[in-house]
Amino acid sequence: MNHSKQWIKLGVAALAISSFALMGCEESTGSKNKAPEIVSITASSTSISQAAETILVAVVTDADGDTIEYSWSAPKGTFSSTDNDTVTWTSPEVVEIITIELEVNDGINISKSTIDIGVDVYVPVVQPYYMGAEACSGCHSTTYAAWQETNHADAASAIL
Ligand code: HEC
Repeated sequence: MNHSKQWIKLGVAALAISSFALMGCEESTGSKNKAPEIVSITASSTSISQAAETILVAVVTDADGDTIEYSWSAPKGTFSSTDNDTVTWTSPEVVEIITIELEVNDGINISKSTIDIGVDVYVPVVQPYYMGAEACSGCHSTTYAAWQETNHADAASAIL
């Protein structure tokens, strides 16, 4: 195969790639409105008892400064209101983790996020739940050092 043929092939490939990129570009600029961003949802408590309240606060930004409509929902429990950035949710009489969803709408785009509230169940505040042994080594240095010598120290390496 001669070299000029290879260059032509390269050129065709480059054209194909750049036209794909252009197509992608056109699609994303089709709607100039930027979606609202749910920066955070915090709860006054993520673990509550049955028929108890937690206050949910959402921080939402919108790059275009659009007015945001809030819509909270949950499979169980009741809200003080569902259309504010801050709402109070009262838990049902069950023992389970309830996922509360917030949908924000700027009139064109919608963003969603969720928060888990444990009802009579402990929900670890730190995510992910697995913290890693280093999180314990600072206070339990002797135990940590001894544990490191055991086979258990490497037991999870195949899955983590
Ligand atoms: C900020 C320091 C600190 C950190 C970090 C910490 N611990 Fe502890 N831990 C303690 C103290 C203090 C005790 C109580 C020791 C006692 O009563 O003798 C304790 C006790 C324990 C006990 C009971 C030991 C016994 O003999 O009864 C276990 C198990 C334990 N920790 C596991 C962990 C694990 C796992 C982690 C990491 C996820 C961790 N700890 C992180 C300070 C810490």
